[in-house]
Amino acid sequence: MEIEKTDILVIGSGVAGLFFSLKAARFSDVLIVTKRDAPSSNTLYAQGGIATVMDGSDSFDLHVADTMAAGHGLCDREAVEAVVREGPARIAELIELGVRFARDETGSALRLGREGGHSASRIVHYGDMTGREIENRLLDAVRDNRRIAIRENRLAIDLIKDPGGVVRGCFIFDGDSGEVRAVTARHVVLATGGAGKIYLYTSNPDVATGDGIAMAYRAGAEVANLEFVQFHPTCFYHPDVKSLLISEALRGEGAVLRNIRGEEFMQRWDPRKELAPRDVVARAIDMEMKRSGAKHVLLDITGRSREWLSERFPYVHENCLKYGIDISEEPIPVVPAAHYMCGGVKIDLQGRTNLDGLLAIGEVSCTDMHGANRLASNSLLEALVVSHRCAEHLREHAGEQPHLDSVNVAFPARGDPRTLETVILDHDWDLARRIMWDYVGIVRSGKRLGIARERIRQIQETIERLYREYGVSVDMVELRNIALVSSLVVESALSRKESRGLHYMIDYPDTDPAYSRDTIIRLQE
Ligand code: SIN
Repeated sequence: MEIEKTDILVIGSGVAGLFFSLKAARFSDVLIVTKRDAPSSNTLYAQGGIATVMDGSDSFDLHVADTMAAGHGLCDREAVEAVVREGPARIAELIELGVRFARDETGSALRLGREGGHSASRIVHYGDMTGREIENRLLDAVRDNRRIAIRENRLAIDLIKDPGGVVRGCFIFDGDSGEVRAVTARHVVLATGGAGKIYLYTSNPDVATGDGIAMAYRAGAEVANLEFVQFHPTCFYHPDVKSLLISEALRGEGAVLRNIRGEEFMQRWDPRKELAPRDVVARAIDMEMKRSGAKHVLLDITGRSREWLSERFPYVHENCLKYGIDISEEPIPVVPAAHYMCGGVKIDLQGRTNLDGLLAIGEVSCTDMHGANRLASNSLLEALVVSHRCAEHLREHAGEQPHLDSVNVAFPARGDPRTLETVILDHDWDLARRIMWDYVGIVRSGKRLGIARERIRQIQETIERLYREYGVSVDMVELRNIALVSSLVVESALSRKESRGLHYMIDYPDTDPAYSRDTIIRLQE
């Protein structure tokens, strides 16, 4: 098998992978592999922005308190403090790299938006295309950097460990040649993003199949808090639209939620109404839909003019128009959809996992900053701060880890995937995601989770068999990861016999102090 060597292997090309790579390239060569084209990532679709304390009307203490309150007792204060306090320095670096953010009329101060759960306006944004702006500028900088190589169409399959258990590289499927290759590295950094695709309805793009969590778990890494899947309250509801987020920032600018009869309902659920944290708003919408039997609710921002909306929310405005909704004239049909994984590969604030040689940053990881419910726009912030810290850590330890000269591991899956009928994978792909949506959604019960466990297990058994028999294709690898991550979410959910933040169990409607700790899962060998 062909082996390629690099100093640092970064898997994924969202904000975490790119920002980290730019920093690491100051002292090391970096290879980024990414499974589609480079911009394809959750970052590209982030609308709202980055929460950070930028002026005297706000304070670090307030931002910390809001984050801790939203996290329902599971946030790690040290992680929250570090991310919040180091945020402004990282935003300044983005600006230096050419990232544009919305500014006031004078052009000197940043214009700050408001989102649910925040007690101050502190969202730095670029209209509703903040993620796109960051992704594109970071990619420009990466492409200009001679110490960074970026390879598209390369799907990471599984980590390579040496006999001592140290992670030394990764098997990569080269989508151009159809071959599996080994890349060895002194350090492997997972920056693979989220796992929204384990659900039928999600705001995430196709790439979000939980690959990093699955690879890390199979290699023996600890994964934490996977029951805390955040459902974004407002995704566009339309039969022809797979995933169009309607930013929370609309509610920050005064949009109200109405049921199908046009009545406002959030006052019945929380005094903060539309600006309550996401777990509360998503659950309220879910209950409202179940009560009325409607397939969606409505988000009404008709109080704002067309001119204002097309300037502040150009992406949402234009995309809704494409489907016949002029948001200045009529309310937007919306439903909650899977959006963000608060749990992930357990790391410290330098991105270190429990496996030597393996680091993780961004949505794939869990620092415990978000606890049981992430506060809106805290995730890009966390990705920037931890990526910076991870690069600083490796700078101090660069070169300590020797290179692996040969890979003694035979790649297990062989065969020709083209001989497998497409319908077999397609069927299980849809089935797994529907099971997760129906049984492991916003409101859960022991009964539903038990059924999900059985059914997901069957899919896992089938896919593992097919994988060994037919070998690697993109669909096969992604479905294998979807099935595994789904099973880990189900196991985590079953083990938490209480309701807390994003995990709501009808059998245990109250929060139980006995569960004020992380859910950690690790492969038992
Ligand atoms: C949004 O714009 O509503 C998404 C922001 C986030 O998830 O942090």
